[in-house]
Amino acid sequence: MHAVFRTVAQVARRSAVATATYRSVSTFAGRAAASAVLHHAGADRFASPSGIQQTVRGHATAATTAEASTTTGIRQGVPPAEPWRRHVSPDEHTPTVFTFFEKATSTWQYVVVDPHTQDAIVVDPVLDYDPNSGTISTQTADGLLSFIVHNGLKVRRILETHAHADHLTAAQYFKQQVGGDVPVCIGQRISQVQQTFASIYGLDEPGVFDETFDVYFKDEEEFKLGKLSCRVMHLPGHTPDHVGYLIGKAVFTGDSIFNPDVGSARVDFPGGNAEHLYQSMQRLLSLPGDYRLFVGHDYPKDRDQTCWSTVADQRARNRHINLGTDEAQFIEWRKNRDKVLGAPRLLHPSLQVNIRAGKFPPKDEQGRLFFRIPVKSDVDL
Ligand SMILES: [Fe+2]
Repeated sequence: MHAVFRTVAQVARRSAVATATYRSVSTFAGRAAASAVLHHAGADRFASPSGIQQTVRGHATAATTAEASTTTGIRQGVPPAEPWRRHVSPDEHTPTVFTFFEKATSTWQYVVVDPHTQDAIVVDPVLDYDPNSGTISTQTADGLLSFIVHNGLKVRRILETHAHADHLTAAQYFKQQVGGDVPVCIGQRISQVQQTFASIYGLDEPGVFDETFDVYFKDEEEFKLGKLSCRVMHLPGHTPDHVGYLIGKAVFTGDSIFNPDVGSARVDFPGGNAEHLYQSMQRLLSLPGDYRLFVGHDYPKDRDQTCWSTVADQRARNRHINLGTDEAQFIEWRKNRDKVLGAPRLLHPSLQVNIRAGKFPPKDEQGRLFFRIPVKSDVDL
């Protein structure tokens, strides 16, 4: 048996709005009005019995919409994405979190804002890809960008939790559209993932991963979001590069844990490790009980989608790793479960874009764009 590579033409056709909009985030004239929106968020919040602010829907005010309509993006008819929820915390060290669900890949995207400064980071944005037609488009990302423009947010970083295998990242598109050389950031062990998949996809040219990501985080590394302190948590297991981002009482976990009734992510990708995932989940569960874990995906069965739960809730109810489950049981269960899971639908396009920080593979001499599909065959024809 040997592996051969077949190339499949996947000509990317960008959406009509892909190239000309949103460069003016930092110069957006509606910043003052947007500030009003973010501060208005406080008027919507209400305390839960536990004292934690519950989630509320976020809406731009009419005044903001009118003022924002003078921006390029709005004139071109890109409506702002509406967040599923706006999460406001009474804790001054915790950001306001706007949450956006991308249904095609069940991915949660986050716009995380320091309400004092309107500095923002974007976590795990999605680039749309239709595998049937081989078409990449930016509808989801454009909605998010429009939301950012509407609210006068200043994007300071684009954060990846890991090299996703189920959707393409829009990180590079965001960087291009926002302007100002906003860094695309990921965990430092992305280099291991890049080397693994370079071998699988035959990416043999020297320097193939030069100038991909801008920042490679170490565990416990800290950075600022406006006045807020952010800390990187290396959370391997699902992938070796996986990190989470702890900001105040909010943690953006990526796929290192899922909502309690979903449990945990698979560990059968190259470099995945059930023991490491168990340890990473324990690290998350050791945080204070009122911290919120914002997950990278949700796969609801008999309920609406949701993006978060508290650490206390996860300790009590996570179906794969609650406090009654020991490590050996979890590892055995996780490995057996992964044996029957199929490959993600967008596996190959996702990895070939995501290990390049959202950049496309080089085009051929005729300007065509392709993805590679590794193939196993027991015949040589
Ligand atoms: Fe993932």
